[in-house]
Order: sequence, then structure tokens, then C-alpha cells
Amino acid sequence: MHFNQLLRERYSIRDYKPLKVSKALVIEVLEAGRMAPSAANRQPWNFILVSDENNLEKLKKAYDREWFKNVPQMIVVCGNHNESWKRSIDQKDHCDVDAAIAVDHMTLRATELGLGTCWVCHFDPAIVRDVLNLPEHVEPIALLPIGYPLENKAPAKKRKAFSEVVFEEVYGAPLKK
Ligand SMILES: Cc1cc2nc3c(=O)[nH]c(=O)nc-3n(C[C@H](O)[C@H](O)[C@H](O)COP(=O)(O)O)c2cc1C
Repeated sequence: MHFNQLLRERYSIRDYKPLKVSKALVIEVLEAGRMAPSAANRQPWNFILVSDENNLEKLKKAYDREWFKNVPQMIVVCGNHNESWKRSIDQKDHCDVDAAIAVDHMTLRATELGLGTCWVCHFDPAIVRDVLNLPEHVEPIALLPIGYPLENKAPAKKRKAFSEVVFEEVYGAPLKK
């Protein structure tokens, strides 16, 4: 699939077939995350694959939504604050930025492989920490359900207009085409 098409075909999947994705295919997706760039190449992340029904059930308590109950598998993306790069000028921690790039790589690779994903950040981090036994400096950043989409109908993208988000030279100046 051409990259431009991939960008348009990836969308958040919230309905999955009750099937697990093969380990080999999930590894392809995890590898895409591992290849992501990161600030100072610190790669301050861990990707935890959760497939065991018992663990999934516990993890699902962290995000109480009907659709989430049917998620067949999940990748939990964690950021390691001991490893992440901090900008010397103001100490800005780039852990979230790095993790987001890795998640984006994974969602796009998953789409290419015919799989669905959905970013989930509106979870209770205390529950995730507890279930996964995360050390203090490792933060759960995103839950990434992964599986086969129940339907394959990409909805129309709802996005702000180009002119609303893109400026030229200075803030607020429209880009001249
Ligand atoms: C950082 C981030 C956090 C998100 N958290 C959630 C979430 O907790 N629950 C959810 O259902 N969707 C979540 N989403 C999915 C967004 O709602 C979705 O990406 C957005 O509406 C655009 O739709 P699309 O992904 O289908 O293009 C999140 C997306 C991002 C990037």
C-alpha cells in the first residue's frame, strides 16, 4: 500500500473480530515501533503485549467502555523516564513525544497488515501500573488494542481545514499555494 493511501486508510477501530492476531504478525507491528526515531536515540520505551485472557480482563478495568470489553489483544506502550531525553534549556521531557512516534509507526504498520488499532489514553494509570507491575519510572502512555476489524469501512476523515492548521512564515499567516 502506498504511504499516502496508508495515511488515509488508518482509522481508529473500536470493533474487533473475536480472534487473536498471530505472534508473527504482532511482532511485525512491534518491530515497526522499535524502528521509530526518538530524541537523542534514547528509545525510552517498552511495548508490552497482553494476550492472556486473565491479564486482559484486569487491564480492561482501566478503561470502562463497552467496546473495550471486546478487545482481543493489546500492546501497552510505556515510557521510561530514566531513559528519555530532557532538553537542557528547560528540562522538557520528550518521553511522550518519543512514545507517540512509536505508536504511530505501529498503527500504520498494523493498517498495512490489515489489522486495526486504536489509541487509548483515557485509562486509569494506577490500574495499568498494578496489572503490569511497572516500576515507578516507567509510565503507561497508551493502550493499543490490536486485532482484526469487524468492518472494513473507513469513515470519512474529520479533520480541520488545511488553512486552519498550516501557516507560512509566522503564526496565523495563511500558506500561499
Ligand atoms: C493521544 C491519543 C489519545 C486517544 N485516546 C483515546 C481514548 O482514550 N479512547 C478512544 O476511544 N480513542 C482515543 N483516541 C482516538 C481518537 O479519538 C482518534 O484518533 C481521533 O478521533 C481521530 O480519528 P481516527 O483515528 O479514526 O482518524 C486517541 C487518540 C490519540 C492520538
